Amino acid sequence: MDPLELLRQAAAGRAAAGLSRRLTARGPDHDGLVDLASNDYLGLCGDERLAAGASEAIRKWGTGSTGSRLVTGTTTLHAELESQLAEFTDAPAALVFSSGYLANLTVITALAAGLGTPGGAGPLKGRGGVLVVSDAGNHASLIDACRLARTQGGAGVRVAVTPHRDAGAVRRALASREEGAAIVVSDAVFSVDGALAPAGELHAAAREHGALLVLDEAHAFGVIGPGGRGVAAAAQIAAEPDVIRTVTLSKAAAGQGGAVLAAPEVITALVDTGRGFIFDTGLAPPSVGAALAALQVIVTEPGLGARALANTARLAGLAAGLGLRAKPTGAAVLAIVIGEAGQAVRAQQICAGHGVRAGCFRPPSVPAGQACLRLTGRADMTEGDFAVAARALAAVREHSVG
Ligand SMILES: Cc1ncc(COP(=O)(O)O)c(C=O)c1O
Repeated sequence: MDPLELLRQAAAGRAAAGLSRRLTARGPDHDGLVDLASNDYLGLCGDERLAAGASEAIRKWGTGSTGSRLVTGTTTLHAELESQLAEFTDAPAALVFSSGYLANLTVITALAAGLGTPGGAGPLKGRGGVLVVSDAGNHASLIDACRLARTQGGAGVRVAVTPHRDAGAVRRALASREEGAAIVVSDAVFSVDGALAPAGELHAAAREHGALLVLDEAHAFGVIGPGGRGVAAAAQIAAEPDVIRTVTLSKAAAGQGGAVLAAPEVITALVDTGRGFIFDTGLAPPSVGAALAALQVIVTEPGLGARALANTARLAGLAAGLGLRAKPTGAAVLAIVIGEAGQAVRAQQICAGHGVRAGCFRPPSVPAGQACLRLTGRADMTEGDFAVAARALAAVREHSVG
């Protein structure tokens, strides 16, 4: 059969199951809507200082990094960003990637490969194999990383998925393992519902069982913890050598790119063996320049993250006051549970009709019957934004959605 016909049939099947996706191009002003859907938590996307950082970098370095990080794609600007990221996050070292997705994919696969050789100490001494313990609510990039690690490692890599935010289950998985090495993997802030990981307990479990802890701080960096230093910093485990963090530069830092924050041994493993590092063109200079400028803003205005959190809590209060099922979390992400997928899409449309761009999550991203509106709070929200948001949420309630 015509291969394109096969694709058309598959697309029709998805459409019938309500699983089609649609790209909607927006204008620079969010089409006049109040943006409660983006990850621009600190409101820095249109900031002149970031634009200046990006354009200065273009003027000096050009538009592209011109090659893989190991050939021509590491400029002194990249080195500067890595040193400043490490300093800000209290990390032993940092390595920049072209996206957060790639940072996650690369660090898990490289660690699984590197830890697979027999060695170590204690009762599991001399045993090979790696157990990767992954939270059921982890982001797709971590799920894909686990899958790839298992594919590459064959029988030597086992992945155990533990219930959402259940440090006890993680401890039990580690305690009963046969493998010599283990890695615990968790979002620091879960991207769908904004829930925080029990980072301190996860670290204690990992430490007790000789495992490494990988925390994805994508939604925490710049927002949560002291001065926006993240969940690990709030749990006072940031500088621990067995804690590895990943961040994205595309959310609070309002640009593009990602980074791994870790001990030098981990960074060496990534540079020597990380395929997503070695075989990818280095982050483009304007993104590096914008990230340096964003970091400067985050350092000099340490209250921005707290403001984003306070505004999210205010949105949660508004929603709860209207009788909607809002789940406040301590992050800048707010899930309002609507129920059925169709109702959640309807609620999203009602929001748009009342001037608010809201996100919407449906199964399989959330369990059946738990489809939700996903709102994000930004540091730069105005009283006018809150007034529009209040009217939109009231309309959602009025239409008996939620
Ligand atoms: C938790 C989490 N990790 C990683 C990523 C990937 O980061 P990036 O967009 O920089 O590839 C995202 C979303 O984009 C995310 O929500």
